[in-house]
Amino acid sequence: MKKNTVTLTNNKTGKTYEYDILDATRGPSVVDIRTFFQDTGMFTYDPGYTSTACCESKITFIDGAKGELRYRGVTIEDMAQNHTYLESCFLLLNKRLPSAQELSDFDLEIRHRAFLHEGLRHLFNAFPDNAHPMATLSAAVTALASFYDDHLELESEEEYQEMARRIISKIPTIAAFAYRHSLGIPFIQPDIDLGFTKNFLTMMRAYPGGKMHLHANGHEVIKDIEVRALDTIFTLHADHEQNASTTVVRGVASTGAHPYVAIASGISALWGRAHGGANESVIAQLEMIGSVDNVEAFIEKAKDPDDDFRLMGFGHRVYKNFDPRAKILKKLQDELRDELGLDTELMAIARKIEEIALSDEYFISRNLYPNIDFYTGIILTALQIPKPMFTPIFVIGRTVGWITQWIEFKKDETLKIARPRQLYTGE
Ligand code: SDX
Repeated sequence: MKKNTVTLTNNKTGKTYEYDILDATRGPSVVDIRTFFQDTGMFTYDPGYTSTACCESKITFIDGAKGELRYRGVTIEDMAQNHTYLESCFLLLNKRLPSAQELSDFDLEIRHRAFLHEGLRHLFNAFPDNAHPMATLSAAVTALASFYDDHLELESEEEYQEMARRIISKIPTIAAFAYRHSLGIPFIQPDIDLGFTKNFLTMMRAYPGGKMHLHANGHEVIKDIEVRALDTIFTLHADHEQNASTTVVRGVASTGAHPYVAIASGISALWGRAHGGANESVIAQLEMIGSVDNVEAFIEKAKDPDDDFRLMGFGHRVYKNFDPRAKILKKLQDELRDELGLDTELMAIARKIEEIALSDEYFISRNLYPNIDFYTGIILTALQIPKPMFTPIFVIGRTVGWITQWIEFKKDETLKIARPRQLYTGE
Protein backbone atom coordinates (compact mmCIF):
# COMPACT_ATOMS: atom_id res chain seq x y z
CA MET A 1 0.00 0.00 0.00
CA LYS A 2 1.50 3.31 -1.04
CA LYS A 3 2.28 5.60 1.89
CA ASN A 4 0.41 8.92 2.05
CA THR A 5 3.66 10.86 1.62
CA VAL A 6 5.77 12.64 -1.01
CA THR A 7 9.52 12.07 -1.39
CA LEU A 8 11.78 14.92 -2.43
CA THR A 9 15.29 14.40 -3.76
CA ASN A 10 17.89 17.13 -3.74
CA ASN A 11 19.79 16.24 -6.91
CA LYS A 12 22.75 18.37 -5.87
CA THR A 13 23.37 16.37 -2.70
CA GLY A 14 21.51 13.14 -3.55
CA LYS A 15 19.66 13.43 -0.21
CA THR A 16 15.96 12.47 -0.12
CA TYR A 17 13.26 13.75 2.22
CA GLU A 18 9.77 12.39 2.92
CA TYR A 19 6.78 14.56 3.83
CA ASP A 20 3.25 13.58 4.89
CA ILE A 21 0.24 14.31 2.69
CA LEU A 22 -2.63 15.69 4.77
CA ASP A 23 -6.00 15.07 3.11
CA ALA A 24 -8.87 17.58 3.02
CA THR A 25 -12.55 16.76 3.45
CA ARG A 26 -13.11 18.78 0.24
CA GLY A 27 -10.58 19.99 -2.32
CA PRO A 28 -6.79 19.61 -2.57
CA SER A 29 -4.62 17.76 -0.06
CA VAL A 30 -1.53 19.48 1.34
CA VAL A 31 2.09 18.42 1.76
CA ASP A 32 3.13 19.05 5.35
CA ILE A 33 6.50 20.82 4.95
CA ARG A 34 6.70 22.36 8.41
CA THR A 35 10.12 20.74 8.98
CA PHE A 36 11.43 21.51 5.47
CA PHE A 37 13.93 24.23 6.51
CA GLN A 38 15.14 22.18 9.49
CA ASP A 39 15.57 19.12 7.20
CA THR A 40 17.06 20.76 4.11
CA GLY A 41 18.48 24.15 5.19
CA MET A 42 16.41 25.65 2.35
CA PHE A 43 13.12 27.58 2.19
CA THR A 44 10.25 26.89 -0.20
CA TYR A 45 9.55 29.86 -2.49
CA ASP A 46 5.98 30.97 -3.28
CA PRO A 47 5.48 34.79 -3.51
CA GLY A 48 1.72 35.51 -3.57
CA TYR A 49 1.15 32.07 -2.03
CA THR A 50 -0.31 30.59 -5.24
CA SER A 51 0.53 27.05 -4.03
CA THR A 52 0.58 27.59 -0.28
CA ALA A 53 -1.98 26.65 2.39
CA CYS A 54 -1.34 28.91 5.41
CA CYS A 55 -3.70 27.14 7.79
CA GLU A 56 -6.31 24.45 8.30
CA SER A 57 -9.85 25.81 8.29
CA LYS A 58 -13.44 24.57 8.57
CA ILE A 59 -15.21 27.79 7.64
CA THR A 60 -15.44 28.36 3.86
CA PHE A 61 -14.68 26.12 0.91
CA ILE A 62 -13.99 27.25 -2.68
CA ASP A 63 -13.53 25.01 -5.69
CA GLY A 64 -12.03 27.32 -8.33
CA ALA A 65 -12.34 24.83 -11.18
CA LYS A 66 -16.01 24.12 -10.52
CA GLY A 67 -16.91 27.66 -9.44
CA GLU A 68 -18.17 26.36 -6.08
CA LEU A 69 -18.40 28.30 -2.79
CA ARG A 70 -19.73 26.95 0.53
CA TYR A 71 -20.13 28.52 3.99
CA ARG A 72 -19.76 25.73 6.57
CA GLY A 73 -20.72 23.28 3.80
CA VAL A 74 -23.85 25.15 2.66
CA THR A 75 -23.68 26.31 -1.00
CA ILE A 76 -23.66 30.05 -1.74
CA GLU A 77 -26.65 29.51 -4.06
CA ASP A 78 -28.67 28.11 -1.14
CA MET A 79 -27.57 30.93 1.18
CA ALA A 80 -28.30 33.70 -1.36
CA GLN A 81 -31.69 32.34 -2.43
CA ASN A 82 -33.09 30.96 0.83
CA HIS A 83 -31.45 32.77 3.72
CA THR A 84 -30.75 36.29 4.99
CA TYR A 85 -27.40 37.85 5.69
CA LEU A 86 -27.94 37.49 9.45
CA GLU A 87 -28.51 33.77 8.94
CA SER A 88 -25.17 33.65 7.08
CA CYS A 89 -23.54 35.41 10.05
CA PHE A 90 -25.05 32.93 12.51
CA LEU A 91 -24.02 29.98 10.29
CA LEU A 92 -20.40 31.16 9.94
CA LEU A 93 -20.06 31.88 13.67
CA ASN A 94 -21.93 28.83 15.01
CA LYS A 95 -21.25 26.20 12.30
CA ARG A 96 -25.01 25.69 11.70
CA LEU A 97 -28.05 27.64 10.61
CA PRO A 98 -30.16 29.13 13.43
CA SER A 99 -33.58 27.99 14.61
CA ALA A 100 -36.31 30.63 14.28
CA GLN A 101 -35.92 31.56 17.95
CA GLU A 102 -32.11 31.73 17.72
CA LEU A 103 -32.38 33.97 14.66
CA SER A 104 -34.83 36.25 16.43
CA ASP A 105 -32.55 36.53 19.48
CA PHE A 106 -29.47 37.09 17.25
CA ASP A 107 -31.30 39.77 15.24
CA LEU A 108 -32.46 41.58 18.39
CA GLU A 109 -28.95 41.62 19.86
CA ILE A 110 -27.41 42.91 16.64
CA ARG A 111 -30.00 45.73 16.58
CA HIS A 112 -29.23 46.77 20.16
CA ARG A 113 -25.47 46.70 19.66
CA ALA A 114 -25.56 48.93 16.55
CA PHE A 115 -25.02 52.11 18.60
CA LEU A 116 -21.59 53.72 18.97
CA HIS A 117 -20.09 55.32 22.07
CA GLU A 118 -20.71 59.06 21.77
CA GLY A 119 -16.95 59.67 22.06
CA LEU A 120 -16.41 57.83 18.79
CA ARG A 121 -18.58 60.26 16.85
CA HIS A 122 -16.02 63.05 17.29
CA LEU A 123 -13.36 60.99 15.51
CA PHE A 124 -15.08 61.62 12.18
CA ASN A 125 -14.57 65.38 12.53
CA ALA A 126 -10.81 64.80 12.32
CA PHE A 127 -11.28 63.78 8.67
CA PRO A 128 -11.81 66.19 5.75
CA ASP A 129 -15.17 65.92 3.97
CA ASN A 130 -13.48 64.40 0.95
CA ALA A 131 -11.84 61.62 2.97
CA HIS A 132 -12.53 58.25 1.36
CA PRO A 133 -14.96 56.37 3.66
CA MET A 134 -12.53 53.41 3.74
CA ALA A 135 -9.98 55.62 5.52
CA THR A 136 -12.55 56.74 8.09
CA LEU A 137 -13.88 53.21 8.48
CA SER A 138 -10.44 51.73 9.16
CA ALA A 139 -9.56 54.51 11.64
CA ALA A 140 -12.90 54.29 13.46
CA VAL A 141 -12.62 50.50 13.86
CA THR A 142 -9.11 50.92 15.27
CA ALA A 143 -10.50 53.54 17.66
CA LEU A 144 -13.34 51.15 18.60
CA ALA A 145 -10.71 48.76 20.02
CA SER A 146 -9.86 51.33 22.68
CA PHE A 147 -13.46 51.23 23.96
CA TYR A 148 -13.28 47.45 24.52
CA ASP A 149 -9.97 46.67 26.24
CA ASP A 150 -11.51 43.52 27.73
CA HIS A 151 -11.54 41.94 24.26
CA LEU A 152 -7.78 41.52 24.53
CA GLU A 153 -8.33 38.65 27.03
CA LEU A 154 -11.26 36.61 25.73
CA GLU A 155 -11.85 33.43 27.70
CA SER A 156 -15.21 31.73 27.16
CA GLU A 157 -17.01 30.90 23.92
CA GLU A 158 -19.70 33.42 24.93
CA GLU A 159 -17.07 36.18 25.21
CA TYR A 160 -15.76 35.36 21.71
CA GLN A 161 -19.31 35.36 20.32
CA GLU A 162 -20.25 38.62 22.06
CA MET A 163 -17.09 40.31 20.71
CA ALA A 164 -18.02 39.09 17.20
CA ARG A 165 -21.68 40.21 17.42
CA ARG A 166 -20.52 43.64 18.63
CA ILE A 167 -18.28 44.37 15.64
CA ILE A 168 -20.79 42.90 13.12
CA SER A 169 -23.50 45.24 14.45
CA LYS A 170 -21.36 48.40 14.66
CA ILE A 171 -19.68 48.30 11.26
CA PRO A 172 -22.81 49.44 9.33
CA THR A 173 -23.25 52.38 11.74
CA ILE A 174 -19.60 53.41 11.31
CA ALA A 175 -19.88 53.07 7.52
CA ALA A 176 -23.07 55.15 7.41
CA PHE A 177 -21.52 57.80 9.70
CA ALA A 178 -18.44 57.93 7.44
CA TYR A 179 -20.70 58.49 4.44
CA ARG A 180 -22.73 61.23 6.08
CA HIS A 181 -19.57 62.92 7.33
CA SER A 182 -18.35 63.01 3.71
CA LEU A 183 -21.55 64.92 2.83
CA GLY A 184 -21.28 67.20 5.83
CA ILE A 185 -24.75 66.20 7.06
CA PRO A 186 -25.76 65.04 10.56
CA PHE A 187 -25.55 61.36 11.42
CA ILE A 188 -28.68 59.22 11.70
CA GLN A 189 -28.68 56.96 14.75
CA PRO A 190 -29.51 53.25 14.32
CA ASP A 191 -33.20 52.41 14.66
CA ILE A 192 -33.81 49.21 16.65
CA ASP A 193 -37.18 48.80 14.94
CA LEU A 194 -35.41 48.12 11.65
CA GLY A 195 -33.59 44.98 10.52
CA PHE A 196 -29.85 44.99 9.80
CA THR A 197 -29.95 45.92 6.10
CA LYS A 198 -32.92 48.31 6.18
CA ASN A 199 -31.36 50.07 9.17
CA PHE A 200 -28.14 50.61 7.19
CA LEU A 201 -30.00 52.03 4.18
CA THR A 202 -31.97 54.33 6.49
CA MET A 203 -28.81 55.59 8.24
CA MET A 204 -27.42 56.29 4.76
CA ARG A 205 -30.45 57.97 3.23
CA ALA A 206 -32.72 59.52 5.84
CA TYR A 207 -32.89 63.27 6.43
CA PRO A 208 -31.93 64.57 9.86
CA GLY A 209 -34.53 63.37 12.34
CA GLY A 210 -34.74 60.06 10.56
CA LYS A 211 -37.42 61.01 8.03
CA MET A 212 -36.94 59.55 4.57
CA HIS A 213 -36.40 61.77 1.54
CA LEU A 214 -39.43 63.91 0.78
CA HIS A 215 -40.44 63.90 -2.88
CA ALA A 216 -43.28 65.59 -4.68
CA ASN A 217 -45.02 62.25 -4.54
CA GLY A 218 -44.65 62.08 -0.73
CA HIS A 219 -42.21 60.11 1.40
CA GLU A 220 -39.70 57.96 -0.44
CA VAL A 221 -39.67 54.78 1.55
CA ILE A 222 -37.01 52.13 1.27
CA LYS A 223 -38.48 49.43 -0.95
CA ASP A 224 -38.38 45.78 0.17
CA ILE A 225 -36.73 44.84 -3.13
CA GLU A 226 -33.87 47.22 -2.30
CA VAL A 227 -33.41 45.64 1.12
CA ARG A 228 -33.46 42.15 -0.42
CA ALA A 229 -30.91 43.13 -3.09
CA LEU A 230 -28.47 44.64 -0.59
CA ASP A 231 -28.99 41.78 1.89
CA THR A 232 -28.08 39.33 -0.89
CA ILE A 233 -24.96 41.38 -1.67
CA PHE A 234 -23.94 41.22 2.01
CA THR A 235 -24.48 37.43 2.00
CA LEU A 236 -22.33 36.99 -1.12
CA HIS A 237 -19.49 38.93 0.52
CA ALA A 238 -19.62 37.23 3.94
CA ASP A 239 -16.47 35.09 3.66
CA HIS A 240 -14.08 33.75 1.04
CA GLU A 241 -11.46 31.49 2.70
CA GLN A 242 -7.86 32.80 2.77
CA ASN A 243 -8.09 35.88 0.49
CA ALA A 244 -5.64 38.77 0.84
CA SER A 245 -7.51 40.69 3.56
CA THR A 246 -8.31 37.56 5.57
CA THR A 247 -4.63 36.62 5.41
CA VAL A 248 -3.84 40.05 6.88
CA VAL A 249 -6.46 39.53 9.63
CA ARG A 250 -4.92 36.16 10.53
CA GLY A 251 -1.44 37.73 10.47
CA VAL A 252 -2.53 40.38 12.99
CA ALA A 253 -4.30 37.67 15.04
CA SER A 254 -0.98 35.80 15.19
CA THR A 255 0.75 38.71 16.97
CA GLY A 256 -1.89 38.86 19.72
CA ALA A 257 -3.22 42.33 18.88
CA HIS A 258 -6.81 43.39 19.62
CA PRO A 259 -9.44 41.66 17.39
CA TYR A 260 -10.79 45.01 16.20
CA VAL A 261 -7.39 46.26 14.98
CA ALA A 262 -7.17 42.97 13.06
CA ILE A 263 -10.49 43.90 11.43
CA ALA A 264 -9.19 47.45 10.77
CA SER A 265 -6.14 45.87 9.07
CA GLY A 266 -8.46 43.73 6.95
CA ILE A 267 -10.38 46.88 5.96
CA SER A 268 -7.14 48.55 4.85
CA ALA A 269 -6.06 45.51 2.83
CA LEU A 270 -9.50 45.20 1.20
CA TRP A 271 -9.32 48.81 -0.05
CA GLY A 272 -6.83 47.96 -2.81
CA ARG A 273 -8.25 47.86 -6.35
CA ALA A 274 -6.81 44.37 -6.92
CA HIS A 275 -9.06 43.18 -4.08
CA GLY A 276 -12.19 44.77 -2.63
CA GLY A 277 -11.54 48.15 -4.22
CA ALA A 278 -12.27 46.56 -7.60
CA ASN A 279 -16.04 47.07 -7.26
CA GLU A 280 -15.60 50.86 -7.19
CA SER A 281 -13.10 50.66 -10.09
CA VAL A 282 -15.48 48.56 -12.20
CA ILE A 283 -18.14 51.27 -12.30
CA ALA A 284 -15.52 53.98 -12.86
CA GLN A 285 -14.19 51.87 -15.75
CA LEU A 286 -17.65 51.27 -17.26
CA GLU A 287 -18.36 55.01 -17.04
CA MET A 288 -14.96 55.77 -18.63
CA ILE A 289 -15.64 53.31 -21.50
CA GLY A 290 -18.89 55.23 -21.86
CA SER A 291 -20.44 53.33 -24.74
CA VAL A 292 -20.80 49.81 -26.11
CA ASP A 293 -18.94 51.01 -29.24
CA ASN A 294 -15.77 51.69 -27.23
CA VAL A 295 -15.58 48.26 -25.61
CA GLU A 296 -13.41 46.56 -28.25
CA ALA A 297 -10.68 49.19 -27.91
CA PHE A 298 -10.53 48.77 -24.13
CA ILE A 299 -10.43 44.98 -24.43
CA GLU A 300 -7.34 45.39 -26.64
CA LYS A 301 -5.77 47.64 -23.99
CA ALA A 302 -6.45 44.99 -21.32
CA LYS A 303 -4.70 42.39 -23.48
CA ASP A 304 -1.69 44.56 -24.26
CA PRO A 305 1.23 43.37 -22.05
CA ASP A 306 2.81 46.84 -22.32
CA ASP A 307 -0.33 48.54 -21.07
CA ASP A 308 -1.06 48.20 -17.36
CA PHE A 309 -4.77 48.72 -18.02
CA ARG A 310 -6.70 45.75 -16.64
CA LEU A 311 -10.38 44.89 -16.87
CA MET A 312 -11.60 45.56 -13.35
CA GLY A 313 -13.94 42.83 -12.12
CA PHE A 314 -12.26 40.20 -14.31
CA GLY A 315 -10.01 37.38 -13.18
CA HIS A 316 -9.50 35.69 -9.85
CA ARG A 317 -6.67 33.88 -8.12
CA VAL A 318 -8.86 30.89 -7.30
CA TYR A 319 -11.84 30.85 -9.68
CA LYS A 320 -10.73 29.56 -13.07
CA ASN A 321 -14.41 29.38 -13.92
CA PHE A 322 -17.28 31.80 -13.34
CA ASP A 323 -17.23 33.19 -9.80
CA PRO A 324 -20.50 31.65 -8.46
CA ARG A 325 -21.24 34.94 -6.71
CA ALA A 326 -20.99 36.74 -10.06
CA LYS A 327 -23.53 34.33 -11.54
CA ILE A 328 -25.99 35.04 -8.70
CA LEU A 329 -25.49 38.81 -9.05
CA LYS A 330 -25.96 38.64 -12.82
CA LYS A 331 -29.31 36.91 -12.26
CA LEU A 332 -30.21 39.48 -9.59
CA GLN A 333 -29.40 42.29 -12.05
CA ASP A 334 -31.86 40.84 -14.55
CA GLU A 335 -34.52 40.52 -11.83
CA LEU A 336 -33.94 44.07 -10.59
CA ARG A 337 -33.45 45.81 -13.93
CA ASP A 338 -37.04 47.01 -14.14
CA GLU A 339 -37.93 47.12 -10.44
CA LEU A 340 -34.88 49.18 -9.53
CA GLY A 341 -34.37 50.94 -12.85
CA LEU A 342 -30.82 49.67 -13.29
CA ASP A 343 -28.64 51.74 -15.58
CA THR A 344 -29.17 49.78 -18.77
CA GLU A 345 -26.35 51.62 -20.60
CA LEU A 346 -23.80 50.52 -17.98
CA MET A 347 -25.36 47.05 -18.04
CA ALA A 348 -25.07 46.95 -21.82
CA ILE A 349 -21.38 47.92 -21.63
CA ALA A 350 -20.76 45.27 -18.94
CA ARG A 351 -22.56 42.60 -21.01
CA LYS A 352 -20.55 43.59 -24.13
CA ILE A 353 -17.27 43.30 -22.20
CA GLU A 354 -18.35 39.91 -20.93
CA GLU A 355 -19.46 38.72 -24.38
CA ILE A 356 -16.17 39.71 -26.05
CA ALA A 357 -13.84 38.70 -23.21
CA LEU A 358 -15.40 35.26 -22.77
CA SER A 359 -14.82 34.43 -26.44
CA ASP A 360 -11.33 35.94 -26.68
CA GLU A 361 -8.29 33.63 -26.58
CA TYR A 362 -6.38 35.98 -24.24
CA PHE A 363 -9.01 35.68 -21.51
CA ILE A 364 -9.89 32.04 -22.17
CA SER A 365 -6.26 30.88 -22.02
CA ARG A 366 -5.81 32.70 -18.72
CA ASN A 367 -9.15 31.52 -17.28
CA LEU A 368 -10.27 35.09 -16.76
CA TYR A 369 -13.98 35.31 -15.91
CA PRO A 370 -16.11 38.04 -14.33
CA ASN A 371 -15.75 38.01 -10.53
CA ILE A 372 -18.08 39.27 -7.82
CA ASP A 373 -17.01 42.87 -8.31
CA PHE A 374 -18.04 42.95 -11.97
CA TYR A 375 -21.75 43.00 -11.18
CA THR A 376 -22.06 44.49 -7.68
CA GLY A 377 -21.56 48.09 -8.72
CA ILE A 378 -24.52 48.36 -11.11
CA ILE A 379 -26.92 47.17 -8.40
CA LEU A 380 -25.37 49.41 -5.74
CA THR A 381 -25.66 52.38 -8.11
CA ALA A 382 -29.38 51.64 -8.49
CA LEU A 383 -29.64 51.55 -4.67
CA GLN A 384 -28.40 55.17 -4.71
CA ILE A 385 -25.15 54.09 -3.07
CA PRO A 386 -22.28 56.28 -4.33
CA LYS A 387 -19.08 54.64 -5.66
CA PRO A 388 -16.87 55.51 -2.63
CA MET A 389 -19.28 53.46 -0.50
CA PHE A 390 -18.99 50.28 -2.62
CA THR A 391 -15.97 48.89 -0.75
CA PRO A 392 -17.43 49.86 2.66
CA ILE A 393 -20.44 47.72 1.61
CA PHE A 394 -17.96 44.89 0.97
CA VAL A 395 -16.54 45.52 4.48
CA ILE A 396 -20.01 45.27 6.06
CA GLY A 397 -20.54 41.89 4.38
CA ARG A 398 -17.01 40.54 5.03
CA THR A 399 -16.62 41.54 8.71
CA VAL A 400 -18.34 38.34 9.86
CA GLY A 401 -15.90 36.29 7.75
CA TRP A 402 -12.88 38.12 9.09
CA ILE A 403 -13.96 37.78 12.74
CA THR A 404 -14.89 34.10 12.29
CA GLN A 405 -11.44 33.42 10.78
CA TRP A 406 -9.87 35.42 13.64
CA ILE A 407 -11.67 33.26 16.23
CA GLU A 408 -10.67 30.05 14.42
CA PHE A 409 -7.04 31.20 14.44
CA LYS A 410 -7.16 31.93 18.18
CA LYS A 411 -8.54 28.46 18.93
CA ASP A 412 -5.99 26.58 16.83
CA GLU A 413 -3.16 25.69 19.23
CA THR A 414 -0.90 24.62 16.33
CA LEU A 415 -0.79 28.11 14.78
CA LYS A 416 2.20 30.37 15.41
CA ILE A 417 3.09 33.97 14.68
CA ALA A 418 3.04 34.58 10.91
CA ARG A 419 6.71 35.03 10.07
CA PRO A 420 7.70 33.87 6.54
CA ARG A 421 11.31 33.95 5.28
CA GLN A 422 12.82 35.21 1.98
CA LEU A 423 15.15 34.55 -0.91
CA TYR A 424 17.86 37.12 -0.22
CA THR A 425 19.59 38.40 -3.35
CA GLY A 426 20.99 41.65 -1.93
CA GLU A 427 24.59 42.69 -1.19
C1 SDX B 1 -11.74 39.98 -4.97
O1 SDX B 1 -9.18 36.16 -3.28
C2 SDX B 1 -10.39 36.42 -3.12
O2 SDX B 1 -11.16 35.58 -2.69
C3 SDX B 1 -10.80 37.85 -3.39
C4 SDX B 1 -12.29 38.08 -3.46
C5 SDX B 1 -12.93 37.88 -2.10
O3 SDX B 1 -14.14 37.58 -2.06
O4 SDX B 1 -12.25 38.13 -1.09
O5 SDX B 1 -12.90 37.20 -4.37
C6 SDX B 1 -12.64 39.51 -3.89
O6 SDX B 1 -10.76 40.59 -4.67
C7 SDX B 1 -12.07 39.64 -6.42
C8 SDX B 1 -10.93 40.16 -7.41
C9 SDX B 1 -11.19 41.65 -7.63
N1 SDX B 1 -10.04 42.25 -8.46
C10 SDX B 1 -10.23 42.63 -9.69
O7 SDX B 1 -11.25 42.43 -10.35
C11 SDX B 1 -9.02 43.36 -10.29
C12 SDX B 1 -8.71 42.82 -11.71
N2 SDX B 1 -8.23 41.41 -11.58
C13 SDX B 1 -6.77 41.24 -11.54
O8 SDX B 1 -6.08 42.23 -10.85
C14 SDX B 1 -6.38 39.79 -11.19
O9 SDX B 1 -7.16 38.97 -11.97
C15 SDX B 1 -6.47 39.31 -9.75
C16 SDX B 1 -5.70 40.19 -8.81
C17 SDX B 1 -7.87 39.23 -9.31
C18 SDX B 1 -5.88 37.90 -9.71
O10 SDX B 1 -4.54 38.01 -10.00
P1 SDX B 1 -3.56 36.71 -10.06
O11 SDX B 1 -4.28 35.46 -9.68
O12 SDX B 1 -2.30 37.04 -9.33
O13 SDX B 1 -3.32 36.56 -11.60
P2 SDX B 1 -2.17 37.29 -12.39
O14 SDX B 1 -2.11 38.74 -11.99
O15 SDX B 1 -0.94 36.47 -12.24
O16 SDX B 1 -2.71 37.25 -13.88
C19 SDX B 1 -2.54 36.07 -14.65
C20 SDX B 1 -2.55 36.58 -16.11
C21 SDX B 1 -1.57 37.73 -16.36
O17 SDX B 1 -1.24 37.69 -17.73
P3 SDX B 1 0.22 37.08 -18.16
O18 SDX B 1 1.27 37.80 -17.32
O19 SDX B 1 0.13 35.59 -17.84
O20 SDX B 1 0.36 37.37 -19.63
O21 SDX B 1 -3.86 37.11 -16.40
C22 SDX B 1 -3.73 38.50 -16.70
C23 SDX B 1 -2.40 38.96 -16.14
O22 SDX B 1 -1.90 40.07 -16.88
N3 SDX B 1 -4.85 39.18 -16.05
C24 SDX B 1 -5.61 40.15 -16.59
C25 SDX B 1 -6.59 40.45 -15.62
N4 SDX B 1 -6.40 39.68 -14.53
C26 SDX B 1 -5.32 38.91 -14.80
N5 SDX B 1 -5.54 40.77 -17.79
C27 SDX B 1 -6.48 41.73 -18.02
N6 SDX B 1 -7.45 42.07 -17.13
C28 SDX B 1 -7.54 41.46 -15.94
N7 SDX B 1 -8.49 41.80 -15.07
